[in-house]
Amino acid sequence: MKNFEKLLLQNKAWAAENTANDPNYFKRSAHIQTPEFLWIGCSDSRVPANDVTGTEPGEIFVHRNIANLVVHTDLNLLSVLQYAVQVLKVQHIIVCGHYGCGGIKAAMTNKELGLINKWLRNIKDIYRFHRDELDAIEDYEKRADRLVELNVVDQVMNLAKTSIVQHAWKEENRPTLHGWVYEMHSGLLNPVSMLQPGDFIDPLYRYDI
Ligand code: CO
Repeated sequence: MKNFEKLLLQNKAWAAENTANDPNYFKRSAHIQTPEFLWIGCSDSRVPANDVTGTEPGEIFVHRNIANLVVHTDLNLLSVLQYAVQVLKVQHIIVCGHYGCGGIKAAMTNKELGLINKWLRNIKDIYRFHRDELDAIEDYEKRADRLVELNVVDQVMNLAKTSIVQHAWKEENRPTLHGWVYEMHSGLLNPVSMLQPGDFIDPLYRYDI
């Protein structure tokens, strides 16, 4: 059997098991999705949003990219954000990074990686803003993991800088923004930042909303 055929076979088993446990399982989720959460995570295959949060299909709206970045010119991210906030009316947005992130580590090198360097530039800027703190950490893995945390904090702030979030904060007093970091060795999520509607953001980034 080819490796991709295994996926289709496992899908049949998964569908059968769910239907056996609950005959209406798929009928229910096919009708409506009302997730309360938007997840912005890393594309890394080891950090699946539903699995690590113990949630079912229908509970989390998901966007993933390399190193879980919120980039203001990324039409994909902005479209997901707008739909989640304005149509699905999510209550919480979670930016979730993970320790040992390859994207973060790549941004700490001088390797010429082609197109992806342009994406990782965003992380280099975060390193530059925190250069003193990061350079003072001797252990390479610990320094990379601290950058993972600082990156998540910055991406949460990037969400608050969007007019999409600022409109929702003003008009509907939601969503709450969370920054979490997933720890692969333990499987645990480490909350590192949180912003609630009305929390302080640099006036330079506030719109007249
Ligand atoms: Co990663």
